[in-house]
Amino acid sequence: MVNIAVLGYGTVGSGVVEVINTNHDIVNKRAGEEIRIKYVLDLRDFPGDPVAEILTHDFNDILNDDEVKVVVEVMGGVEPAYTFVKKSLLAGKSVATSNKELVAAHGSELIAIAKEHAANFLFEASAGGGIPIIRPLNSSITADDITEITGILNGTTNYILTKMANEGADYATVLKQAQDLGYAERNPEADVEGGDTCRKIAILTSIAFGKNLDYATIYTEGITKITAEDFKYADAMKSAIKLLGTTKNVDDKLYSFVAPVMLNETNPLAKIDDVFNGIMVHGNAVDDIMFYGRGAGKLPTASAVVSDVVDAVKHMGTNIMTIWEPEELETGDFSDAVNRFFVRVADEAGIEEKINQLFGDVQYVSADGVTGEKAFVTSDMTEGDFQKKKTELGSIINVIRVAF
Ligand code: HSE
Repeated sequence: MVNIAVLGYGTVGSGVVEVINTNHDIVNKRAGEEIRIKYVLDLRDFPGDPVAEILTHDFNDILNDDEVKVVVEVMGGVEPAYTFVKKSLLAGKSVATSNKELVAAHGSELIAIAKEHAANFLFEASAGGGIPIIRPLNSSITADDITEITGILNGTTNYILTKMANEGADYATVLKQAQDLGYAERNPEADVEGGDTCRKIAILTSIAFGKNLDYATIYTEGITKITAEDFKYADAMKSAIKLLGTTKNVDDKLYSFVAPVMLNETNPLAKIDDVFNGIMVHGNAVDDIMFYGRGAGKLPTASAVVSDVVDAVKHMGTNIMTIWEPEELETGDFSDAVNRFFVRVADEAGIEEKINQLFGDVQYVSADGVTGEKAFVTSDMTEGDFQKKKTELGSIINVIRVAF
């Protein structure tokens, strides 16, 4: 029997308890051992819930109990999660976490500590919710030079964008629905301003390229400036608007960014709706691989966490080799990254002439019922060049990157 402890009895923590209880036979068989939840740590009390019998408010009960071999950290936030996880690993306990803030900020260090103590620091649920993506990057796509990772990595914003696009729903109402469904972060700013996607693409990039990508250096835009008019243009362009996190290797330089992108309907990521996430990985031998599944929510996220618990139990006393060196990845200057841009600008006298003069050959777009403005798509240009010309153009209403 292997005893585990669960830190945090919120949406994901209660999901972990539920998955282990509901699927105990199958989980135990796959782990090769019976998994027993010995403690659940939370600041709150849960009268009437069976978890009350194993509830503790003191992390030291878990740390000092040598019978606890695996710690599940599903509290979220960097502290106190970081302190608890580090102490657990230093004590030789393996850790499974869904905490992207923690993994993005300290992944490399915690992997190294786990290795020194013949334990494991596992974080499948930290990117893509229930989608297996960390394990495939670490264990399956190991023959390839990976040249691109692009994904819809946030369930909340994909849910919001889908409802706004398909139902003309109002932003605040749909955000509230996403919160009620347990998709959104406690402070949903991390979802809608792109910070959550930013941490997830940093984690995936660090694992794929073996060195640290500091999430704070990634250019990040959220979805809060997207309006109903943008969706009308997207319709006219046979496109969907999706919040993407991307890392591309261009001429041996890595460029990462997070931003809403107009994706042509022929792009498989354009069809990924609601809370679902999709991640496209391109390798020089395997070509494109797509991963698809629920990116947020209690049980899908818990499924990924419990799969890590099973892996930790299967590898008790052995470290699963994971390369994420502390050294920073060398990245290109974002102003040199090449993109195409969809631009909406106020329709002032001489505007077309000005657009053509600054941007050369552009494609004009019109949308049903949108007046008083001009909209166009640029050719490929660097971010730096675009920013300069955008400032010269003035009267910008909105800008969204475009991909095919
Ligand atoms: N708030 C996150 C999302 C939860 O919506 O994707 C899963 O990481």
